[in-house]
Amino acid sequence: MSAIYSRIIGTGSYLPAKVLTNADLAGTVDTSDEWIQQRTGIRERHIAADNEKASDLALQASRRALEMAGITADQLSLIIVATTTPDMVFPSTACILQSKLGVKNMPAFDVQAVCSGFVYALNTADLYMKSGQYEYILVVGAEVYSRILDWSDRGTCVLFGDGAGAVVLKRSSTPGILASRLHADGSHADILSVPGQVCRGAVSGTPLLQMDGGAVFKFAVKVLEEVALETLEAAGLQKTDIDWLIPHQANIRIIQATAKKLGMTMERVVTTVDRHANTSAASVPLALDEAVRDGRIRKGHKVMLEGVGGGFTWGAVLLQW
Ligand code: ACO
Repeated sequence: MSAIYSRIIGTGSYLPAKVLTNADLAGTVDTSDEWIQQRTGIRERHIAADNEKASDLALQASRRALEMAGITADQLSLIIVATTTPDMVFPSTACILQSKLGVKNMPAFDVQAVCSGFVYALNTADLYMKSGQYEYILVVGAEVYSRILDWSDRGTCVLFGDGAGAVVLKRSSTPGILASRLHADGSHADILSVPGQVCRGAVSGTPLLQMDGGAVFKFAVKVLEEVALETLEAAGLQKTDIDWLIPHQANIRIIQATAKKLGMTMERVVTTVDRHANTSAASVPLALDEAVRDGRIRKGHKVMLEGVGGGFTWGAVLLQW
């Protein structure tokens, strides 16, 4: 029996209409466009409308990915959604998305790995595909971080945005995903968390994001290099084989430091953090969709996707386009 690979045959993304600039934020908290750009590279972010939920953003991104793939939603054999900001405690955002796509009869579930969520979900989908039981898998990252931010905390509210990205995977006898590696270390849970929960009809604890920015920065740079090298080794490839690096879009300085460690110039790194800010599980598929649609990523290119986030979690997926 020949090897089974997962190939991405469609990408899609969606950003809510409302744009919040650094100057807008400077009107509500003690910050400035200059500070935010210098420390993070962020200029603006998109914010979901009050009636837009993660599943609504996911729906728009999914429709675009399905359109590029040239398949209809009823052909999907599995739906996985990565999100930290689900529509509700349950059902999963993946089940809600399935219903909004107007289909049924395929499994659907969420993956919760914060900013590594999409890479975790893609790895999961790839392993499901290798079982031979699935033909088309929809993998989505969708987030409405604006709902879990303390808008009076200048140290965190300037960093995040809302959005969604999606890919359609097809079972294939040619690559496809070449290798992927995931990691977690729960002992670092306290440096980035939303430490609240629903309890006996009320929210207990703080349902807003809190972060030790400096600790997150150092951890991210270290593990993004390590997991890229580990994934290259698993695929039998070298740093110089990577055509495009698409790291999680948290901060341009984290991205630059990672690229430098991997010996890559910024010309080969896809960045959207300036316009999207950090959209957590949505950031990698949003950036991938942009680089596919503008023609930077072409057939045969080797693309390294990387995630890192709360948990702490981190991982990488190396694929051939
Ligand atoms: N505007 C103006 N001043 C600010 C702001 C702001 N928005 N935020 C913080 N400051 C102030 C601080 O209060 C501090 O003032 P002080 O010296 O008077 O105490 C000063 O700026 C310096 O603060 P630092 O936290 O030391 O600034 P630093 O250079 O470390 O940058 C930042 C902070 C941008 C958060 C950085 O640590 C970072 O990017 N960390 C990574 C965090 C991240 O990306 N998180 C995303 C989630 S995790 C993930 O996705 C991987």
